[in-house]
Amino acid sequence: MAGGAVVNAGGGKDYPGKLTMFVLLACIVAATGGLIFGYDIGISGGVTSMNPFLQKFFPSVYHKEQEAEKNQSNQYCKFDSQLLTMFTSSLYLAALVSSFFAATVTRVAGRKWSMFGGGVTFLVGAALTGAAPNVLTLIFGRVLLGVGVGFANQSVPVYLSEMAPARLRGMLNIGFQLMITVGILAANLINYGTAKIRGGWGWRVSLSLAAVPAAIIAVGALFLPDTPNSLIDRGHTAHAKRMLRRVRGTDDVEEEYNDLVAASDESKTVAHPWRNILQRKYRPQLVMAVAIPAFQQLTGINVIMFYAPVLFKTLGFADDASLMSAVITGLVNVFATFVSVFTVDRLGRRKLFLQGGTQMLACQVVVGALIGAKFGFTGVAEIPKLYAAVVVLFICAYVAGFAWSWGPLGWLVPSEIFPLEIRSAGQSINVSVNMLCTFIIAQAFLPMLCKFKFILFFFFGAWVVVMTLFIAFFLPETKNVPIEEMVLVWKAHWYWGRFIRDEDVHVGADVEMPAANNAKLANI
Ligand code: BGC
Repeated sequence: MAGGAVVNAGGGKDYPGKLTMFVLLACIVAATGGLIFGYDIGISGGVTSMNPFLQKFFPSVYHKEQEAEKNQSNQYCKFDSQLLTMFTSSLYLAALVSSFFAATVTRVAGRKWSMFGGGVTFLVGAALTGAAPNVLTLIFGRVLLGVGVGFANQSVPVYLSEMAPARLRGMLNIGFQLMITVGILAANLINYGTAKIRGGWGWRVSLSLAAVPAAIIAVGALFLPDTPNSLIDRGHTAHAKRMLRRVRGTDDVEEEYNDLVAASDESKTVAHPWRNILQRKYRPQLVMAVAIPAFQQLTGINVIMFYAPVLFKTLGFADDASLMSAVITGLVNVFATFVSVFTVDRLGRRKLFLQGGTQMLACQVVVGALIGAKFGFTGVAEIPKLYAAVVVLFICAYVAGFAWSWGPLGWLVPSEIFPLEIRSAGQSINVSVNMLCTFIIAQAFLPMLCKFKFILFFFFGAWVVVMTLFIAFFLPETKNVPIEEMVLVWKAHWYWGRFIRDEDVHVGADVEMPAANNAKLANI
């Protein structure tokens, strides 16, 4: 069995093997886990802007909105209600907590069972929210949806990154984000249709249809093979080797297999993954597991995703036009994600982060200025159609920037940087920080809009400056580096290198880092 790994330009090894149909299908099925998250993000904004829904569950918000319309009063404040935002954000709190339980299931039972559990819980949540007779049932249903999201988001990105050959990992992992965006778009389109249903029960259709993506991932998970990494880690070594041959489409897997076993042996020496992640040598990963999801949310993207229809109504669009504009941003979100699918493994993660960040910043400044110029601080104004269309255009450019940078990379990068021994724990931290920040932003946005008005766009813009600088200085390039060898990248980094001692660098087989590669890595 000749062959084996060669060191590639990125400083990692290239193992033999190709992209097999088997792996591609497995990754497509697993990525559908993103649908449930996306559907959920997209559905709540539209539903909360439907009058019959507000009348039934949040009558005080409904009356306030009507008043604002009648009196031409402050546009910025008309949707401000803590109970209404609780509806949107309860899901994220539930997802936050459940991702910690998911960590154990993912590690002990395998990735696929977390996906299955996520799908089933989500299914029950969909039924409850769709049939809810009162606000309590509604919120309880959302909590179950949240548990489903917590399990899926914990397991799917890790699954994809482990299954994929290193040089295509970015592309396959971004399947998850692509499904998130498809879920958001589907929800926007469905809201657009159900808002027109006479009799005021359209929102029930919107909420119940969450059962469709839930069924897809629950059934799909049953057919998914487990990853070789997880099989080895759970002691099924012979099965793991067969699986590795199958997923790579070659018998020449000895070297990769040995490296996976070495990574697993290393992980067996770790009794407490949670305490372990606090060790100095894992500092770079820990910082990234917190900073990347927090920054992803501080881009302000979910202001658009949750509140696009509300925001467009605030701009003076009619109900229908507001939902339509949300569909437009949803479309941009899906198509722009393809840009990263096709470039992430060639251009690398850093270039996309830096370009996307710059584009988002420029758009936020323009949108803030345009809204500020018309509404000022009073929030009372008539906005001409063309003017509003220009605002929507810049919002679309902002969404596009996010869709090929922080959107996909916010899930990809954390899933590929943890060594096996802290992978499940690390991914839970990633999910829970993401959900916590989503919760805070969902909960705080409407009161903040009411208080800070258009300045809010500059607030998120300032964060984009901070995160772009953070990436420039602290995130090394991870493209093409095999996942169990990522330590080499941290070791070679100008700042993080100091946290990792020479004896912390075990990369399984005897790969020699050529001096030229070291120098190159040191520069990223
Ligand atoms: C984020 C979500 C966001 C979505 C938009 C995801 O990566 O985690 O919070 O709503 O992208 O496409």
